[in-house]
Amino acid sequence: MAIISSRKQPPESDGQPESQVKAKAKSKKSPPPPDENILQSQATVEETDKQEESIRPHRFADYIGQKDLKDVLDIAIKAAKSRGEVMDHLLLYGPPGLGKTTMAMILASEMGVNCKITSAPALERPRDIVGLLVNLKAGDVLFVDEIHRLSRMTEEILYPAMEDYRLDITVGKGSSARIRSISLAKFTLVGATTRVGALTSPLRDRFGLIQKLRFYEIDELSKIVLRTAELLNTPVTPEGATEIAKRSRGTPRIANRLLKRVRDYAEVKSCKEISQPVAAEALQLFQVDPCGLDWTDRKMLSVIIENFNGGPVGIETLAAATGEDTQTIEEVYEPYLMQIGYLSRTPRGRVATKAAYDHMGFNPPNEQLSLL
Ligand code: ADE
Repeated sequence: MAIISSRKQPPESDGQPESQVKAKAKSKKSPPPPDENILQSQATVEETDKQEESIRPHRFADYIGQKDLKDVLDIAIKAAKSRGEVMDHLLLYGPPGLGKTTMAMILASEMGVNCKITSAPALERPRDIVGLLVNLKAGDVLFVDEIHRLSRMTEEILYPAMEDYRLDITVGKGSSARIRSISLAKFTLVGATTRVGALTSPLRDRFGLIQKLRFYEIDELSKIVLRTAELLNTPVTPEGATEIAKRSRGTPRIANRLLKRVRDYAEVKSCKEISQPVAAEALQLFQVDPCGLDWTDRKMLSVIIENFNGGPVGIETLAAATGEDTQTIEEVYEPYLMQIGYLSRTPRGRVATKAAYDHMGFNPPNEQLSLL
């Protein structure tokens, strides 16, 4: 399995207008930001590779959650196998940490083929993608993470490769330039993105299957925590697993990361197992609240509530207040806050809901109640 690139993204902005209205609130002082954010911190690809490989499910039978997606892929795999064909190209989209890479690897192992893993920022020069494509064997899965970030040239090389398993190479320059076509082995491209809307339509149209990964339910995350704990030889009670699951923002990557931090805490405090109180104490220490909100989530909500009377507020303001870039806010923080009904996105900016006021311990102003 080849892993080729890292995943850091540059900031973008949407230039929202701002207003300055003080909220009527039972104001609370927020604690300083933690040195490390254990919900969002991104390990390097090599670290992720080593840590996650040992706990990653390798078959659909071991993969918990995403039932609809598994059903769709199961049919596609069985149909392709029975016809002796490769599976159609697949685009997976959804927030980070929900298992897009794992799904691609399972797909390859269920098809009985190799999976080559790369990421769009590693495919800057045409020769990067050409090198990968010419080395694919019949049926292989090529997984391209952050596929919305492909360069135009790389994308254009992919079009005939995806459509006709053909590589068109320009040989020579100027008037003597000629196109040479090379046949490629038939392969399945699995693209992954957190921003499906940022894909060009010619690229999106070349995927036969476009599937969304959803946030996980608490019972699914509890099962994931129990499974991972067993693989790590860490005793955890069902209530301890549920406590971790509740604070994992619907995301298995976060659940597994929190489990490892709670395991450290339990070891240092000589707890024989991770019970509910041990998990709750440990996660409170790491500033992960009972809903899984971290310092940045709470700061975003408190800025909207305390400084802007509940909103609407521009994303630039939220980025400045939290020290995050606008893209991280849009792709990492907002989806979960919207999922749990704490934030809504309006054309004029972000608005805190009544549930957010309640969670943060503020009284919603009357005019805000009529908006909610
Ligand atoms: N580890 C991470 N994601 C998982 C999942 N969906 N099922 C089982 N184990 C996992």
